[in-house]
Amino acid sequence: MGGLAMIRKCAASDVAAMWTIIDAAAQAYRGAIPADCWHEPYMPMEELHAEIAAGVEFWVAEDGARLVGLMGIQDKGDVALVRHAYVAPATQRSGVGTRLLRHVTAQVDKPILIGTWANASWAIAFYLRNGYALVTPAEKERLLRAYWSIPARQVETSVVLADARWMAGARGA
Ligand SMILES: CC(C)(COP(=O)(O)OP(=O)(O)OC[C@H]1O[C@@H](n2cnc3c(N)ncnc32)[C@H](O)[C@@H]1OP(=O)(O)O)[C@@H](O)C(=O)NCCC(=O)NCCS
Repeated sequence: MGGLAMIRKCAASDVAAMWTIIDAAAQAYRGAIPADCWHEPYMPMEELHAEIAAGVEFWVAEDGARLVGLMGIQDKGDVALVRHAYVAPATQRSGVGTRLLRHVTAQVDKPILIGTWANASWAIAFYLRNGYALVTPAEKERLLRAYWSIPARQVETSVVLADARWMAGARGA
């Protein structure tokens, strides 16, 4: 299935289907992330619209007429962030996430950073196998505060992964 899905930029008409995938895939966080960080829905529709307005460029994977995944990339000046990576539960582990990751990161020519929950071991495994590496706790703290707008509690309970370019020293100030 991963090989068949087509990747294209999201259209305004995709937002409802994207939200449905986010809501279903984010169920993986329930019971894994700290209870005080879980809320339902995980991402309110207004937040998805706000992220698009804030410059997160979303790409979707489409299998036939059905969306099966989405991933965003956000330009932050000296780095780019991979944001909101979700594959429909029935389609996970078939390569769609990897294809989306390669596709969104190919859009930019900058070091790439990715933040996720420290307890989301599956997501960390996914990025590690795609060549990303965990930054140190001190760097994580600095990077999350510099490039993300998330609550202090989420900074505490998150990790940051970086690509080879960032690790090689092309770091932000
Ligand atoms: C993380 C995610 C986007 C990966 O997409 P995907 O299409 O499943 O990924 P791929 O098929 O390309 O890669 C699969 C690899 O990812 C990791 N992985 C994905 N899902 C996993 C799971 N449930 N348990 C353990 N490892 C998992 C493994 O390394 C896996 O390789 P393997 O199957 O050989 O063990 C997807 O699983 C997802 O939407 N998860 C829930 C939401 C989430 O955690 N998003 C990440 C936010 S930063």
